[in-house]
Amino acid sequence: MTSAIKTSKLSKQYKKGVRQQQVSALLDLDLEIRRGEVFGFIGSNGAGKSTTIKILMGLIQATNGQAWLFERPVTDPAARLHVGYLSEHPHFHDFLTPLELLHLLGTMRQMERKTIARKSEELLGLVSLSEAANRKIRGFSKGMVQRLGIAAALLGDPDLLILDEPMSGLDPLGRHLVATIIRDLQRQGKTIFFSTHIIHDIETLCDRVGILVQGHQKYVGSIQEALYPAGNLFEITVRMPEQWAPAQTILGSLRLLWHKESLYNFELTEAEISSATQAVIAAGGGIVTLEPKRRSLEELFLDLSGKFGEKGQSDLTSPAS
Ligand SMILES: Nc1ncnc2c1ncn2[C@@H]1O[C@H](COP(=O)(O)OP(=O)(O)OP(=O)(O)O)[C@@H](O)[C@H]1O
Ligand SMILES: [Mg+2]
Repeated sequence: MTSAIKTSKLSKQYKKGVRQQQVSALLDLDLEIRRGEVFGFIGSNGAGKSTTIKILMGLIQATNGQAWLFERPVTDPAARLHVGYLSEHPHFHDFLTPLELLHLLGTMRQMERKTIARKSEELLGLVSLSEAANRKIRGFSKGMVQRLGIAAALLGDPDLLILDEPMSGLDPLGRHLVATIIRDLQRQGKTIFFSTHIIHDIETLCDRVGILVQGHQKYVGSIQEALYPAGNLFEITVRMPEQWAPAQTILGSLRLLWHKESLYNFELTEAEISSATQAVIAAGGGIVTLEPKRRSLEELFLDLSGKFGEKGQSDLTSPAS
């Protein structure tokens, strides 16, 4: 199967300020995104996500290395014929209406007038902007511009979508809408590559993730492996009767992470689950949640940056990238 996106030792150095000081934004990125895959690209602010995306879109040139879209080098504009793109800060001519904008973009794509009209109506409906179809973009909120950007990215019925923080600026309903669109697109066999800071979106939408730390690729693989490190630690939250104290039971030997009124949250190993739950029930308590302990995105970034930042490698096993 051919790849939708491939990069080999992709690197970018910017020149900054009057002294043209070199800033290394990306170093030796090796990625391969398969067709039909939803791939999340994560990393702290300034990690190099948008730099990578801009190189793929031909907006800036790599200093070293190569990148391909559907096996065509990104330096060939034809590589992007079947690609839809949402930039990090979508910005449109604000004197236009959504219908006029989509007409302009469709014309630039040499689409037929009738097709543009049909697609525009369909896409504005999809992103819940039908009511605003004839209103000037000038009066749009950030979330409305973002949703319009997604409609614009879908106009040419692309096989590959490259979205730089598609959920940015969206309210919960807007995020749900975009998540649904991404799922539908994947069902249609499209490939989606998107950057984000929202862990929930990565967990629920992505087949694989790539993690960048200060321009270095630290991990490519399943998000589960990255967030649920080996060690089999769990967290249990229990509701206990008044006057109860952990020390009275086996739970006293566990690590208490937090306690609020009648709720207690402990860290425990898989082997301790059975005796702990029995002790809770015997004491007249109830189990509220029991789940594998996972790292937060912050912890993951700190871990990857702190431990491996200087060495440039990760101890997370990285399945086929
Ligand atoms: N045009 C530019 N000139 C100089 N330096 C730049 C330029 N664009 C980006 N950089 C630098 O390159 C690094 C990577 O930036 P990039 O925008 O790719 O990060 P990002 O991962 O997209 O961050 P964010 O999550 O904040 O969007 C940063 O240190 C940034 O300051
Ligand atoms: Mg960015």
